[in-house]
Amino acid sequence: MQDLDSLTRDLLDRIDACTDLAALESVRVAALGKKGQITERLKTLGKLSPDERRIAGATINRVKQQLVDAIEGRRGSLERELVERELLAGRIDVTLPGRGEGQGGLHPVTRTRLRMEKIFRQAGFTVAEGPEVEDDFHNFEALNIPADHPARAMHDTFYFPDGRLLRTHTSPVQIREMRNGQMPMRIIVPGRVYRCDSDMTHTPMFHQIEGLVIDENISFANLKAVLAHFVEQFFERARALRFRPSYFPFTEPSAEVDIQCVFCDGTGCRVCKQTGWLEVLGCGMVHPNVLSACGVDPGRWQGYAFGMGIDRMAMLRYSVNDLRLFFENDLRFLRQFNRG
Ligand code: DAH
Repeated sequence: MQDLDSLTRDLLDRIDACTDLAALESVRVAALGKKGQITERLKTLGKLSPDERRIAGATINRVKQQLVDAIEGRRGSLERELVERELLAGRIDVTLPGRGEGQGGLHPVTRTRLRMEKIFRQAGFTVAEGPEVEDDFHNFEALNIPADHPARAMHDTFYFPDGRLLRTHTSPVQIREMRNGQMPMRIIVPGRVYRCDSDMTHTPMFHQIEGLVIDENISFANLKAVLAHFVEQFFERARALRFRPSYFPFTEPSAEVDIQCVFCDGTGCRVCKQTGWLEVLGCGMVHPNVLSACGVDPGRWQGYAFGMGIDRMAMLRYSVNDLRLFFENDLRFLRQFNRG
């Protein structure tokens, strides 16, 4: 029995020393499990005489109960400690001041689009829209870009398995409007366009604004006047324009338009690569094939069209040198456009 006393003390000490539930469980198994030290003692009772067995049995059972109580007590306090630790870790200080509700604002590209729309609206244009998922006919074919035309290589197109595509420019809306609309026509078409391209000045999605005017007596002079007016309004001062002969399948003649650099006023700087000029748009007189593809009589109607990048105009207006900044949506960047 002396031996049982020291075993009991040893087990009680081990129970007290347990710092987690797993350790406590292994002490329990070592003492009271099927092959535990106390269980083994109970098994030896059979070898004793009935009188001895009664006394020894009572003693071992008391020890067993003592150990069960100690284990349950320790388990209770370990569980409470665990809960307290979890509560502490997930604590919220409800007395901290709130972060407040920041005021939202329009994205700089949206601001630029609205500004462009306003200028053209004042010049008598209406705003039209078209789908971003297009078919080959509207994006290419009807714009005088047949399947084998080298101009198709200029567009890195995202195709769907069924042959449809993400429009590579806003020009397909010219086709949709001319096929459905009434002449004369004077529209602009802002919207998202997609090309498989990504670097400092290209993102896979960007924004364009298309212009289309169809009437009975339209010449290149009208186009020049509208664009000069637009540029003056947009940059809030007159800017020299330079028309360079160019090529687009859907216009003839075609031109690319440069404006006098808005950063150095044409004297030459890093942005304009010392040329004094910035390229801002493509334009031309609508090709007779395009009018015919839309059921518009080229003998009676003619017109001009232009296409320009909204993001690019936003970069020029706000002096932003990396197009990707517009699409990362970092609030520290965006907030700068919504002061006051
Ligand atoms: N669609 C052309 C492009 O994305 C831009 C363009 C050029 C549009 C000339 C026009 C135009 O309407 O006349 O590169």
